[in-house]
Amino acid sequence: MKRVVCPGSFDPITFGHLDIIKRASELFDEVVIAVLVNQTKKTLFTVEERLAMIAEVTAEYPNVRVDSWSGLLVDYCERHDVKAIVKGLRAVTDFDYELQMSQINLQLKGIETLFMSTAPAHSFLSSSLVKEIATFGGDISAYLPAPIIEKLTARLAAR
Ligand code: PNS
Repeated sequence: MKRVVCPGSFDPITFGHLDIIKRASELFDEVVIAVLVNQTKKTLFTVEERLAMIAEVTAEYPNVRVDSWSGLLVDYCERHDVKAIVKGLRAVTDFDYELQMSQINLQLKGIETLFMSTAPAHSFLSSSLVKEIATFGGDISAYLPAPIIEKLTARLAAR
C-alpha cells in the first residue's frame, strides 16, 4: 500500500490544498492529510475544527483521510507507514524552505518528499492571504469551498 501524507496547518483549507490532495489521491493508494500542531503558531481555528472542515470537504475522495500530529512529521511517517510526503510548490519563493525541509526529513528518517506544481490558478493562494482578504470584507469565493467560507466568515465576525 502506497500511503503518502499531505501535511500543513490548513487554517483553513483552500482550493490550492484541495487541488494537490485530489491529484495525490489519483496517484497513491491512500492520502493522509496531517494537520500539524504548532504551539508557537496562532491559528484561527482549533485543530479539531480544522480536522472537521477538512473531512467535510474531502468526503468525496474515498482514499483520503485526515489526522493530526504534534511533533516531527518524519516521526508520524515512521509510525504510520507513510512512504512519502507530498507538497505543493506554488512559486520559486517556496523552494528554498521546502528544499531545506525535504533534505532534513530525508536525513532524519529517510522519508522522501514529492513536490507537485500548484495549478497556475492557485499559485498565489495562501490561507493567510485569504484570511486577510476576508478580514477586510473582500470576495473569497474563488479561494475556498462554500462550507469553509461560511465558517471563516462566522469566525471573523465573532472576533
Ligand atoms: O501549512 P504550513 O504551516 O506551511 O505547513 C508547514 C508544516 C506543518 C508542513 C511544517 O512546519 C512541518 O512539517 N512541521 C512539523 C515539524 C517538522 O517535522 N518540521 C520539519 C523538520 S525540522
